[in-house]
Order: sequence, then structure tokens, then C-alpha cells
Amino acid sequence: MQPLHTTAGFATRLHEVYLRAMLAHRIREMAAVWEEEGVRIRRTLHANPELSYQEHETSALVRRHLQEWGIPHATMAGTGVVGLLHGKDPDSRVVALRADMDALPILEENNVPYRSTREGVMHACGHDVHTTCLLGAARILHTLRDEWKGTVKLVFQPGEEKNPGGASLMICEGVLENPRPEAIFGMHVNPQLEVGNVSFRSGKVMASADEIYITVRGAGGHAAAPHWTTDTILVASHIVTSLQQVVSRNSSPFSPSVLSICSIQGGHTTNVIPSEVRLMGTFRAMDEEWRFRAHGIIRRQVTAIAEAMGAEVDLHIDVGYPGVHNHEGLHAIARSLADDYMGPARVGETELRMGAEDFGFYTQHIPGCFFRLGTANASKGITHGVHTPRFDIDESAIPIGTGLMAWLGASAALPG
Ligand code: NI
Repeated sequence: MQPLHTTAGFATRLHEVYLRAMLAHRIREMAAVWEEEGVRIRRTLHANPELSYQEHETSALVRRHLQEWGIPHATMAGTGVVGLLHGKDPDSRVVALRADMDALPILEENNVPYRSTREGVMHACGHDVHTTCLLGAARILHTLRDEWKGTVKLVFQPGEEKNPGGASLMICEGVLENPRPEAIFGMHVNPQLEVGNVSFRSGKVMASADEIYITVRGAGGHAAAPHWTTDTILVASHIVTSLQQVVSRNSSPFSPSVLSICSIQGGHTTNVIPSEVRLMGTFRAMDEEWRFRAHGIIRRQVTAIAEAMGAEVDLHIDVGYPGVHNHEGLHAIARSLADDYMGPARVGETELRMGAEDFGFYTQHIPGCFFRLGTANASKGITHGVHTPRFDIDESAIPIGTGLMAWLGASAALPG
């Protein structure tokens, strides 16, 4: 580049700024035009939801569109789809854009024309919207391929809602190689944020999530003769109470962490001490070192209590998703690009959440930035949370999410 203090250098720089502004403008226009088709696709997906790792029709729909538009793609991890978009100078940078495609085992209660046609399966987490927006972004970036530099990898992944997480399978099958993206972006609907807004956060944004399964066993018997039994109910109760100390007495007060036992199953009547009680729960943490240290503390407490009380115990911790960590540098770049695209008044700060997202697997390997798309409209009553039977979105969020994904894909790059 010519030095800025020369007239030619200044003119070059001015021209670059002009081209960038023009590109943002073109993307905004194309996203607005895309809205109609986007809404149609989103409604098709919403009406035909598929559970984790069974996204066959969804995957076929994605592939059909990419095929029609002439975008090279391949399948991966069963129902996953990876596409490649080349702009000018394709080797200069590689950025990945990710969408998840699966639905949840929930019976939809919305009375809308695009209501789920599959009893007990519902797009209650907005993954229909994520898939639609990434398709729209692909269409726009492909059309404008002479106006941006580098390569954009499109990642349509299965199974975000269920262990082991579609992201981990995609990574195992090489989604982050050939070419290796220098950064990845993921977007998620937020029904607590008014449509027209997006939000970002630097560093930790979501927690790790591990499942806890405990089975307490002992000689049950007559409730009137506890001295001839091992009271598995009492042992389980002590375990539940004791596990509350794992977080309150062992984790740093400055590092959020949650342990919830959410199920106790045992016994069936008033006068029989059961021989088995089963507990299930979840453990969430923001710090990976503490996360695995906590597993050891949980194991020690559960084993010691059972032994002290004469019971046998099985403990299984199903290690789930790692926390989502937004790369500080990439976050700053993404946020400033969002400011340019949306106007700074529409770009806010995401709150910390103890929910989990398998996007965390990507951020363990490459710099990532996970952000939220406002989909609420309080005046229309669209405020129900994700994973509820009444969840829905204001569909005017679709061109916003589509355009912003395209803009990040076309513009974002890590310095150096
Ligand atoms: Ni989700």
C-alpha cells in the first residue's frame, strides 16, 4: 500500500473505504430482496423439523440450493454439508460461517400456517433460521464473488442439540482443514432481544455442560425395619445435599459454575425402602481446568458418602460440550464490522449464559465469534423463550441475519 501522507496513498485509501461502503450497501440491498425467499425456506424448514443427526430432508434442501446456485459442496458427518465460496484472490484468507440444522423433541403449540407437521418435533431453538440465513449469505456472497477477497467455508452442521455434538463430528471429519479457516462465526437467535438488534461478547460467552448419572444400590426392605436395610433414599438425599458444596465451597466465586440435580427416581410406596435410587443432573462451568477438577470432587464425594453409609454406587459423568470462548481480537473485528453494517446503536452486549453450545468445539481449535440475532417483537407477542412450545421469531430478522453473516464472511480477517 502507498503511504497515507502522499496524495496517491490517500486516494487509494479513500477508494478502499468507498468500495467497502459500497459492498455493505449491496449486501444490505440483496438481503432485503432475499427476505421473501428466505421466509419461504424458513417456513419449509419449520414445518418439517428433523431431530439431531436425522436432518436428511434439511440437508437435501441445503444441497439442492447450493447445487442450483453453482456452489461446490460436500456432505460430512452424515447429514452435514460443507460448501466453499471463492472470491478474488481465494488464498488470501479463509473464513468459516456456521449454521446448525436440527430441531427438538417438543410439541409445537403455535397456531401458525408454518406450524410443525411432525408431531412432537419442533424447531424451538431457531436452527431453521440459522440454516436459512446461511443459505442466503451463501447466495449473496456467490453473486458478489468479484467484490470480496478470499474464501468462505459454509458449515451446515447436524446435531447441535445432542451429545456428542455435530460440531465435534464435523471437526473429526476435517471441516477445519483443507482449507483451514483462520476464523469461524456462528449466529444464534435471541427471543429476548428485539428484532433489528444483534449482540456480541468478548471472551467466555457460554458454559461447558456435562451430564451426571448416579445409581445408589443397597438392600432395601421393610420401612419398619430400617436396621435390616441400606436406606438408598437417605444415601441419595445425602449425595444431593453434599453435591451442593462442590460449587459453593470449591469453585472460585469469580468463575460462574452450576450443579443441578434434576431427577430422583426411587421407591413406589409408603412402607418399602427401595433397593435402588437413580439421580440425574447437569454440571456447568466457565473454566475448563475447574470443570475437570470438579469431576474429581463429584466422584470423591459420591463414592465416600455411599461407602460411609454402606451403599454401592455407580457414577457416570457424560462429558458434553466445552464452553464457548469468543476470541478477543476476532470479537473486536466482528463487532466493528457489525457497527458498520447495522449502525452502532443496534449492536449491543450479550449477557453471560450457563447454557451450552457445541460451537465451543470450534473455538477450541480456531478463533471463533458467536453472536446473537434479535428475533423478539414484544408488540406482536413474540417473546417466548427457546426450547418452549410457543417459541417463534419475527421473520424480519431473516434479512438482517443473512446480510450480517454475508458481510462478516466477505470482510472479517484476523490481522497478520
Ligand atoms: Ni440452539
